[in-house]
Amino acid sequence: MVQKVKAYAPASAANLSVGFDLLGAALRPINGQSLGDFVTAELASPGSGCTMVTVGRFAKKLPVDPKKNIVYIAYQAYKKKLNALGKTCHDLKLTLDKGLPVCSGLGSSASSVVAAVLALDAIHENVLGEAGCLDLMGELEGMISGSIHYDNVAPCYFGGLQLIIEENGIISEGLESFKNWLWVSCFPGIKVSTAAARSILPAQYRRQDVITYGRRLASFVHACHTQNEKLAAACLVDVIAEPYRAQLIPGFDVAREYGKAQGALATGISGSGSSIFSIFTNLEAASEMKEYLERNFIANEDGFCHICKIDEVGANVVEIA
Ligand code: HSE
Repeated sequence: MVQKVKAYAPASAANLSVGFDLLGAALRPINGQSLGDFVTAELASPGSGCTMVTVGRFAKKLPVDPKKNIVYIAYQAYKKKLNALGKTCHDLKLTLDKGLPVCSGLGSSASSVVAAVLALDAIHENVLGEAGCLDLMGELEGMISGSIHYDNVAPCYFGGLQLIIEENGIISEGLESFKNWLWVSCFPGIKVSTAAARSILPAQYRRQDVITYGRRLASFVHACHTQNEKLAAACLVDVIAEPYRAQLIPGFDVAREYGKAQGALATGISGSGSSIFSIFTNLEAASEMKEYLERNFIANEDGFCHICKIDEVGANVVEIA
């Protein structure tokens, strides 16, 4: 019987300028560091219930009461699912190693949720399986952000560049990404809540913006399938969120101009911010952008910047005993 499972779930960037609520990519620093959350589930003595501890760089930013933590809430929700199937849930000690800052635009809550559900299902011999886990991850993410959107959960869980479908029983499909793209991903250290960043968006859009959005997203997907890098990069322009959200991120407009001068294929807001991403094909230029952002964009000691590739693996069990 499995006693202990440790799962990792990577950071992700949702929207990617062209696909508001419908695109997301998992990220992996090229220097080998982890950029994500780990959740460990260990069997506890029967009757002891569920206990939870938080550790890691960004643990201090989490709710003080562990029962308010999404990982603990994930345990309760998982238990309910198991009970509905006539099965019992183990008593567990859960440890969340919080590597991602909350409200950062890096899919921090999705990362905790995905690592938690993956660890819980692995220690229960995968009772829910992939589809059941994905449903539960979506529900939990929806509890935090107010509405279910899979643009962080799907790339975080499956890895790669994911297009959200939510039709015909399909939640998401992986797109062929550009393997040479380097994603300079920078968190300035400032919190932007997704709910607040959604509340400033217009309730309705002009017809021309709707058509531009549809045209660019469809063209981007086509460019991925045909591996037309120039077309894909040209499509990475946002008419839905960025014009309204840029004001929430001090230094974003200047950083984008700097990126352009360095040859960036595109620069945009990561999810609902405050992180931004800038895409390069040249490591030297990406490194210069990283240095620029570290010097000029990061506002406090919580900020960081990584040169990333798309994490094609996604969430995975890193330890099982
Ligand atoms: N797509 C969401 C938004 C954030 O930009 O509001 C991530 O789910």
